[in-house]
Amino acid sequence: MVEFTLPKNSRITEGKTWPKPEGASKLHEFRVYRWSPDEGKNPSIDTYYIDVDDCGPMVLDGLLYIKNKIDPTLTLRRSCREGVCGSCAMNIDGANTLACTKGMDEIDGPVKIYPLPHLPVVKDLVPDLNNFYAQHGSIEPWLQTVSPAPEKEWLQSHEDRVKLDGLYECILCACCSTSCPSYWWNGDRYLGPAVLLQAYRWLIDSRDEATGERLDQLEDPFRLYRCHTIMNCAQTCPKGLNPAKAIAEIKKMLVERRV
Ligand code: SF4
Ligand code: SF4
Ligand code: FES
Repeated sequence: MVEFTLPKNSRITEGKTWPKPEGASKLHEFRVYRWSPDEGKNPSIDTYYIDVDDCGPMVLDGLLYIKNKIDPTLTLRRSCREGVCGSCAMNIDGANTLACTKGMDEIDGPVKIYPLPHLPVVKDLVPDLNNFYAQHGSIEPWLQTVSPAPEKEWLQSHEDRVKLDGLYECILCACCSTSCPSYWWNGDRYLGPAVLLQAYRWLIDSRDEATGERLDQLEDPFRLYRCHTIMNCAQTCPKGLNPAKAIAEIKKMLVERRV
């Protein structure tokens, strides 16, 4: 398991311990990072107790139990609750993952929850992803062509389509980028594993006709070459993807076009 430092904005204090739910026979303890820009206080860790028999099995279910039944001020992002939107990414039990696919029963002892590391915090478990999304926009993640558009659709052979496997499944949750030490220290200039995996997804799409321009954009000491193959990204990806491999493939493409 990858262990992370606490979010960088703070000295974290012990927060409130909320009352245990009445009549519960089985409890699970949650220790949750809390910080609000409106309160002008240091972040704190609040302690809650979930009635396991009155709650779904996932960490997200536990957080929604807290929000709905104990403390409505707890702030988090979620949407699909089935691992396809990427919005519930957070640091759970020391690793970045999705709250909706992480089972509470996978965790012994208290469930410790922090926002994704090394990003500014908007409130509680909500990190500021503006820079991450701007970086994604910078790689122009859409099909670019110069050939006249076909009447119906851009065709692709089965073999070429298979090359997108392991890439198209990325849900842009940012678990990988926020586990990457190079991204922690150079996140303003290094694109990070998630965005580079997306960049590679378009580079190897047989229908795309902007490969040269895309490679030109990436050939930069910071945008691409800050990856030092530490592999946290592949270890933490909740979809089982390997951004480090995609980054290595981009570097190979750059070498090959020089030959
Ligand atoms: S590669 Fe994995 S961890 Fe990274 S953004 Fe995509 S789905 Fe999330
Ligand atoms: S392999 Fe590269 S992108 Fe992945 S965590 Fe390491 S430095 Fe970051
Ligand atoms: S709520 Fe969509 S991935 Fe968890």
